Amino acid sequence: MNPVKILVVDDEIELERLIKQRFRKKIRAKQLEFVFADNGKKALEKIKSEDSISLVLTDINMPEMDGLTLLEKLREIDDTLKAVVVSAYGDMKNIRTAMNRGACDFVTKPIDFQDLGLTIEKTLEDVKKMRDNINQLQEAQAKLVQSEKMSALGQLVAGVAHEINNPVGFIAGNIAHAEEAIADMIEHIKLYQKHYRDPVAEISENAAAIDLDYVMEDLPQLIDSMKHGSDRIKNISTSLRTFSRSDTDTTVPFNIHEGIDSTLMILKYRLKANEHRPAIEVIKDYDELLPVLCYPGQLNQVFMNLLSNAIDALDLASSNKEEKSGLSENKIVIKTRFISGKSAKDNSCYFPRVAISIKDNGPGIPPAVQERMFDHLFTTKSVGKGTGLGLYISRQIVTERHQGKIQCISHPGEGAEFIVEIPGQNTESS
Ligand SMILES: Nc1ncnc2c1ncn2[C@@H]1O[C@H](COP(=O)(O)OP(=O)(O)OP(=O)(O)O)[C@@H](O)[C@H]1O
Ligand SMILES: [Mg+2]
Repeated sequence: MNPVKILVVDDEIELERLIKQRFRKKIRAKQLEFVFADNGKKALEKIKSEDSISLVLTDINMPEMDGLTLLEKLREIDDTLKAVVVSAYGDMKNIRTAMNRGACDFVTKPIDFQDLGLTIEKTLEDVKKMRDNINQLQEAQAKLVQSEKMSALGQLVAGVAHEINNPVGFIAGNIAHAEEAIADMIEHIKLYQKHYRDPVAEISENAAAIDLDYVMEDLPQLIDSMKHGSDRIKNISTSLRTFSRSDTDTTVPFNIHEGIDSTLMILKYRLKANEHRPAIEVIKDYDELLPVLCYPGQLNQVFMNLLSNAIDALDLASSNKEEKSGLSENKIVIKTRFISGKSAKDNSCYFPRVAISIKDNGPGIPPAVQERMFDHLFTTKSVGKGTGLGLYISRQIVTERHQGKIQCISHPGEGAEFIVEIPGQNTESS
């Protein structure tokens, strides 16, 4: 850990030597570091040039800029910076002014170093508490941004799905009637052909011109492919609605595979071939799973984050490659397994669970990144491409919301595998 940095502002040059001497143990142990300035003006310059000063200890009477003016300026620069004033006992008026200008404490001159040590300790504790609070606030804000982002996406997707649903319903419904009507008409034409083998010239000429035999053979196939098309749109719309299931306050039974498939559907456009790489092949190796009690919308968010990261990694690897062989295979393998709670070894019982593994054959993750990748706002991606929230949020959803765990296995150059485990039902026990 870096030492805590304290700026001492005093025109008594001797003070520097004294402080360094009195606090030498803490300085040597790298717990504290002192920087010095002999007036308010120089102190302001120091604050700008040195980063992460945690505390300012300032005298009041100094040339060029006194301590009271310095306090005022400090508040303008950074109102979280704590200041302690050093003043003679009798100088209550100045001490009051200093307090009104944001000083959090005072020590008296001549300096009692034991008292100074205690004051520093107490103030640094306050600084730590305040910084922790700010961090917590930032985390809460980040979570809000992410859930806002997801709920906006969810709403959009649900809206689109809803809009598609009705027209596709007409098409699908009418195709079935059209199929029947066309079959009837074809049968009817065939009856004509059977009983009027030799029609008038106009009819036979027209039959040849429109290639009647071919049309009658082709039409049912045409209808069939229209049916396939509308079925596909219906599936897309169902997937979109599955993906955007709004979160409930309680867990509900959810088919994990439907969740993964609907997420893949949303990401389909990103899996396609692009100028840097061929299409990404998704290999599914699904176990037989019962519905799992969970928060579906949030779990889909985890799949979304892990799959997006895998695609990002494959994209990055391909765009970095100098020579594009065109043959390099981009693969994402998605495996699900039910893990029964029994240990074969000693027959001891664990909670039965479901494991979902998402593995890519991208560049892998260096150990230094693995250590920090679940941290809040940690990203290696450029601005605009990554916010560093994906894994942080995913871990919270898995561990806190679902009492599960998430781990990563990756060796540089050999891709990355993320394994999510959440409590699940045993097939036999239901
Ligand atoms: N499959 C992967 N392959 C290689 N690196 C990965 C993979 N998954 C995650 N990482 C690394 O972990 C970092 C953190 O991932 P995370 O999802 O938390 O944030 P992000 O993807 O950078 O941004 P965001 O998800 O908020 O858009 C990434 O920047 C990347 O360096
Ligand atoms: Mg991500």
